[in-house]
Amino acid sequence: MNTQLREGIEWVGFVDWTVRDFHGYATGRGSTYNAYLVRGAAATGEPNSEPTKTALIDAVKAPYADELLRRVANLTPLDKVDYVVCNHAETDHAGGLPAVVAACPNAEVVCNKTCREALGRHFDTSAWRFRVVADGESLSLGRRTLQFVNTPMAHWPESMMTYVPEEKVLFSMDAFGQHYASSARFDDEAALDEVMAEARTYYANILMPLGKPVLAAMAKAAGLDIEILAPSHGVIWRSHIADILKAYGDWTVCRARPKVLVIYDTMWGSTDRMARAIEDGAASVAGVEVKRFSLRLSNTTVLATEVLDAATLAIGSPTLNRTYMPQMGALLTYLDGLRPAGKAALTFGSYGWSHAACAALEARLREMKVELLAPAVEALYAPTAEVLEECRQAGRMLAEKALAAVQAQAAPAAK
Ligand code: FEO
Repeated sequence: MNTQLREGIEWVGFVDWTVRDFHGYATGRGSTYNAYLVRGAAATGEPNSEPTKTALIDAVKAPYADELLRRVANLTPLDKVDYVVCNHAETDHAGGLPAVVAACPNAEVVCNKTCREALGRHFDTSAWRFRVVADGESLSLGRRTLQFVNTPMAHWPESMMTYVPEEKVLFSMDAFGQHYASSARFDDEAALDEVMAEARTYYANILMPLGKPVLAAMAKAAGLDIEILAPSHGVIWRSHIADILKAYGDWTVCRARPKVLVIYDTMWGSTDRMARAIEDGAASVAGVEVKRFSLRLSNTTVLATEVLDAATLAIGSPTLNRTYMPQMGALLTYLDGLRPAGKAALTFGSYGWSHAACAALEARLREMKVELLAPAVEALYAPTAEVLEECRQAGRMLAEKALAAVQAQAAPAAK
């Protein structure tokens, strides 16, 4: 495995091939927790007049700290690690810090003030030696320098990126990451379509509610000369930086594509028949992609990712007792937290002795700031031919609205 970013900068993280549930996010391709060792020493044979230092950039999840330390020890004695930079206090990275601090007796933990406070809430840091750094501050390692860039809320309040100007390497923390286990460490060693798909899933499920802070972080990073973009999960970007930056430009504003999503649950098949009719109607409009998902055959991770760039949604559920189906409740709760921006929808579903699901869905969608495009389409017990035609018309309407939404997005750029 090629772990060298530059001479003197090595990946020392952990490839997690088996994780399938990352706090509820279905990580079908596993993940990695990336940590990096930056040595300030000159290459062998080169003069180096300054005293040199060595820094570890971030740690890994607690159970994998031994593997991290083994990789570091293969490169330098652990008592020669001078700094451990903590860019982010979330425990998929900081969880291994107590073991790292214990194993590296001469290391100072380098982080911003907010991170120091957060680490103190997670761990007993009373014996840790901290070096608190300010936004824009630099720390010389000798031949290389660490520059710290605070990027609050990309992903947590203390989130920070670390830049090495001499090598044009930015350690970007969660931003631009992917939950993607691979023996490849670099974007040009892996299948790019898989990497981009996982980057999109990662953005949708981790960063979607934080589009503005992520844009602010990107604006700060735009002033840096970057040849290697090294996130804390997945492969490192060096050949396709422009691709991931362009994708983030779209994702951070939830830019819609001409896409209609039909998402529903069903009890005895009536709402399923309605969903298929909506799909048929939407698919009859040229230039629109239509995707239909039966909730119980999918998962919230996939659906949130599909919502990210969908223009319009059809959300369906039969009435179960006094409301919609519980799996729909789980999805809407998840989406409410992710706050997809600029979406428009209609609801549909069957009902019987209790008539409540669509009204409850509409109320929930209004709370989520989703625009309701038309009254709900409903069927008493089973959809009649007239109701199915109403569904087809609703599908066509959603497709036309999707095209119009995409045109409206494009209009300002064309001026
Ligand atoms: Fe990968 Fe926000 O931690």
